Parts: sequence; structure tokens; C-alpha cells
Amino acid sequence: MNTTEIMDMTEKYYLPVFIRNKIALDHGVGTKLYDADGKEYTDFFAGIAVNALGYAYPAVVKAICEQAGKLIHCSNLYYTEIQAKCVAKISEVSTFDKVFLCNSGAEANEGAIKLALKYGTGKNPKKFKFVTALESFHGRTMETLTATGQEHYHEGLGPLPVGFSYVPYGDMDALEKAMDDEVCGLLLEPIQGEGGVHVPPDGYLAKAKELCEKHDALLIMDEVQTGVCRSGKWFAWMLSGVKPDIMTMAKAIGGGIPMGAFAVDDKLAHVFKPGDHGTTFGGNVLACAASYATLCALQDNHILDAVVKQGTYFKTKMQELQAKYPDKITDVRGSGLILGMELAKPGAPVVDKCLAKGFIINCTVGNVLRFVPPLIISKAEIDGLIAALGEIFQEF
Ligand SMILES: Cc1ncc(COP(=O)(O)O)c(C=O)c1O
Repeated sequence: MNTTEIMDMTEKYYLPVFIRNKIALDHGVGTKLYDADGKEYTDFFAGIAVNALGYAYPAVVKAICEQAGKLIHCSNLYYTEIQAKCVAKISEVSTFDKVFLCNSGAEANEGAIKLALKYGTGKNPKKFKFVTALESFHGRTMETLTATGQEHYHEGLGPLPVGFSYVPYGDMDALEKAMDDEVCGLLLEPIQGEGGVHVPPDGYLAKAKELCEKHDALLIMDEVQTGVCRSGKWFAWMLSGVKPDIMTMAKAIGGGIPMGAFAVDDKLAHVFKPGDHGTTFGGNVLACAASYATLCALQDNHILDAVVKQGTYFKTKMQELQAKYPDKITDVRGSGLILGMELAKPGAPVVDKCLAKGFIINCTVGNVLRFVPPLIISKAEIDGLIAALGEIFQEF
């Protein structure tokens, strides 16, 4: 099928909830993607921060194929070696004692919210409140979209779950005012992704932790987008050293196969009793095989060093572009390989022009170009994108 045929059939049968780019992707190798008409693209989006090792990474493909030939699914009512190895590896890289595996970021956050609720109401029936940040994003289930501090995600969906309040991200005074003894959980992204790549000011996460301790609330960090080496650390909380009580993960953790997870230390491991939480597919052996192979490859190939090196270079090049076009680029921010370029105008035309030049990028909140490439992106590829952006800003 050619691109037009694929697009037409999709539009005919798929519920129209996505605003899709007008290309049909066929396959990928490394950092390159190829569309149905054979055009090559350099990928700076990684399937929304998922494909940490790019495409067709041999060790991950091998692990998935071998597992598929052995056992694709068997449920959590049995033990499997690959699931054991997978949770042990997640525990090792995250430093948390216990891990629960699910299928997506929303589900990971849903589980974390449930655990915090159980923790809170177990102490006091009124301790059921959550504080989250404005411009956050936590998922599309009813609970996680309510946790998401962007009103347009709530429209037409009331009555929403109760108990959520929102504070401006990074504002310590607002946070202090919002926290009280009826709060059971404070849910924050260590760097906001969908909301426009916002890095919190120094001391913010430490203050969040301090307030949680004061009010006996659990600090939940949503590392769905920032986790798995993207920020330049295994998890972005490690940039500040402020360890949350619950950490949620998804996206890159599954090596491209759907997987989410949340993790806690032993002190919270008994909040859920057997039967309180569960899943049919979560921690499925195929996903575990992909996850384990991905995490091992990231570790063995010292990907963190590459993320820091290329991320620093990329950000410097973006800042140089900003210095050249200060009226068009109003800010450059981020950490490692989660970087944002805020524009004075809407970013959609820039995304389209990049696509025409063979670069896949993304724009979030209307005017922030978001770059979350595979973590194996090269300096030459960064130079290529910067040159393309330079031409685009020159024309605009
Ligand atoms: C920080 C964050 N949390 C949660 C989610 C939801 O993840 P999923 O789409 O896997 O449910 C996302 C998705 O973009 C995210 O960026």
C-alpha cells in the first residue's frame, strides 16, 4: 500500500482522536525511519520518547524473537525467569526495592495514585487529597487526566474524581500553601515533558520532599517521559538527589513493547495486600524480554555518557540558534536528551518543514519544539537538524 492508501484506510476505520503527520512509517534502523514511499527521516522523537535504542537494535530484536518463540504470555499467576530478571534490573537501575509492572504510563500513575490513597486513608479517612502541577501530564484514564493540570483535558468529562488541586510548577510558596495533613500524595514530573519541557528551579523537589515529610504525604514522581537515561541520569530525580516515595515509569522502559511500572521501597511494599492491585498483561514475558534486553544494552554501552555528551552539545547548538534568532526563539531548556525550544510563534509549521527536510520532530503546547531523540543520536545528526532549523528560521 502507498501512503495515500494507508492514510485513507486508517481515516475510514480508526476513531479520529489523533492529529497525525501526513506520512506512513514502514520501518526503521538505528536513528532512521523510512516511510511507505521509501523516504528516509532522522528521528528526533523516538515514538514520544520511547525508542531509547532507536530501531531494530539487534539485542532487543533477538530477545523479542527468542521470547516469542518460547512463550508470549502466561499471566502473573505463575513465575517466570525473564520477569524476575526484569524487575531485578529495574530495581538495580532505579534503586527502589519493589516494582509493579503494568502496560502504560497512565496505568503506572493510576497504580501509584491508588497506593498513595490506600496509604493516606489507612491513616485517616479524610487523607485522600492529591496535589499536582499545572501544565503537568499524567495520562488519559479518569484519575490520571484529573491529575493532569491542564483544563482542556477535563472539558466535558465531569464529574471528575474528587480531591485534586493544582499548583504552578516550580512555585515553592504555592506548594507550601497547597499542602496539608489531608494530602496523601504529591504527584510531580521531575521535568515536565508534554507541558513544554520545564525544568524545576533548584531546591524545588527538595522542598516538595520536605513538605511531604511534614504532612506525611507520599511524593510520587512521574518518570514516564524523563526516565530510562533520557535526562542524563537513569531517572531524572537523580539530578537533584531527591528520591520520591513512589516512582512511575513507562515509554522507554519496555524497549518499544508496551510496559509501565511503579516502584517503591520496602517501607511501602505492604500498603497493597495480595489482591489489592493486579493486571492481566502487565509484566507480560514478551515485554519483560524487551525491557530487560534494553536496560542491559543501555547499561553495557554506557548510554548515560553519550546522553550527557550529545545532550550538552545539542543544547549548546540550540542556544547558538537562539542567539542568532532571538525574536523567533524565546527560550531553550531541558536536560540530557529531553530538550525544548520555545518559539514566539506556533511551532506546527516548523515541524512540517522539518519533516519535508527529512527530520521528525514534535511540537507541544503549541509553541515548544520538543526533542526527545533515540539516545543513540549522533553529533552529525544533531548538526544536520540544527542546519535544517537554521534554514527554516532564516526563511520565516
Ligand atoms: C509524564 C507522562 N506521564 C504519563 C503519560 C501517559 O503515558 P501513556 O501514554 O503510556 O499512558 C505520559 C505520556 O506522554 C507522560 O509524558
